[in-house]
Amino acid sequence: MELVTKISGITLRNPFMNASGVLSQTVSLLKRLQEAEVGAVVTKSITYEERKGYENPTFIKINCGYLNAMGLPNPGFREFLKELSLCRDEFKVPIIVSIAPSEPKQAREMATTFKNIASAIEINLSCPHSEKLGLEVFNDAKLTESIVKNVKDGFDKPVFCKLPPYRNEVLGIIDSLDNCDAFVVSNTIRAMKIDIKAKKPVLSNKFGGLSGKALHPISLALVFELYEKTKKPIIGVGGVESWEDAVEFFLAGASAVQVGSVLEKKGITIFKELVEGLEKYLKEERISLEELIGLAHDS
Ligand SMILES: Cc1cc2nc3c(=O)[nH]c(=O)nc-3n(C[C@H](O)[C@H](O)[C@H](O)COP(=O)(O)O)c2cc1C
Repeated sequence: MELVTKISGITLRNPFMNASGVLSQTVSLLKRLQEAEVGAVVTKSITYEERKGYENPTFIKINCGYLNAMGLPNPGFREFLKELSLCRDEFKVPIIVSIAPSEPKQAREMATTFKNIASAIEINLSCPHSEKLGLEVFNDAKLTESIVKNVKDGFDKPVFCKLPPYRNEVLGIIDSLDNCDAFVVSNTIRAMKIDIKAKKPVLSNKFGGLSGKALHPISLALVFELYEKTKKPIIGVGGVESWEDAVEFFLAGASAVQVGSVLEKKGITIFKELVEGLEKYLKEERISLEELIGLAHDS
């Protein structure tokens, strides 16, 4: 079965990609992902200046998924660009560069800088645990709009907005994000865990983002609702651990699917599993991937 798919004009050999930040922090990790049958690679979110990230513990398993508060550690956009430029030609799949800007001018400069490297820019408007970035930007509608506009002005290829999983806020803002090309749904949910013996939060940052199993039905519901409100392509992300989880996202209306936390559990071989599972399902159901997308809305 044909799995080639298009998102805003970018051709993907299959509809699966890694989610930003999980096993994608360095260029060598991105190269490993490419070997694992991904349709595209997504970088860790890059900020204007270097960020060291938070102290450990930054990533923990809990009984319904994972909590992380990494603090967006990254070398800053100039350094990252240098690293990526050195091996751009080794990438045979599209590179989606995730940026986490906090203001419009910097956002535009970052986007322009990655012009010759990235096939698309994904703007992180949703990280739930970093000051003046991600969700804090998203909570300021005017700032968000201006950042998206500046990225669009500085970058002549597709721009994706990565949204938080909060339904009302997302549905309230999407019309003003009209100039972006696709939505990535969703980032993690702000959450925490408390150690009852130590009597204090487990993550060094206290709050983090909940990912994995518990997030899946929440992201799925938002993809479903968003599909009825926008004509833009949607990339589903949240708690995908099997091809069946991914098929749910396609049925809800996602054109592609990203996977994050499961990479910690199953490693990058999950992509082969997803590709083979989807191919077999499409063959058995005698439908194409294109026909599958949004099909749950017809019933
Ligand atoms: C360790 C870790 C680091 C992450 N870093 C980023 C990041 O840099 N940028 C971003 O947009 N999302 C980041 N995320 C969120 C994921 O990209 C994804 O949206 C979320 O984990 C839900 O997908 P999952 O349930 O498959 O993990 C991170 C998630 C985890 C677990």
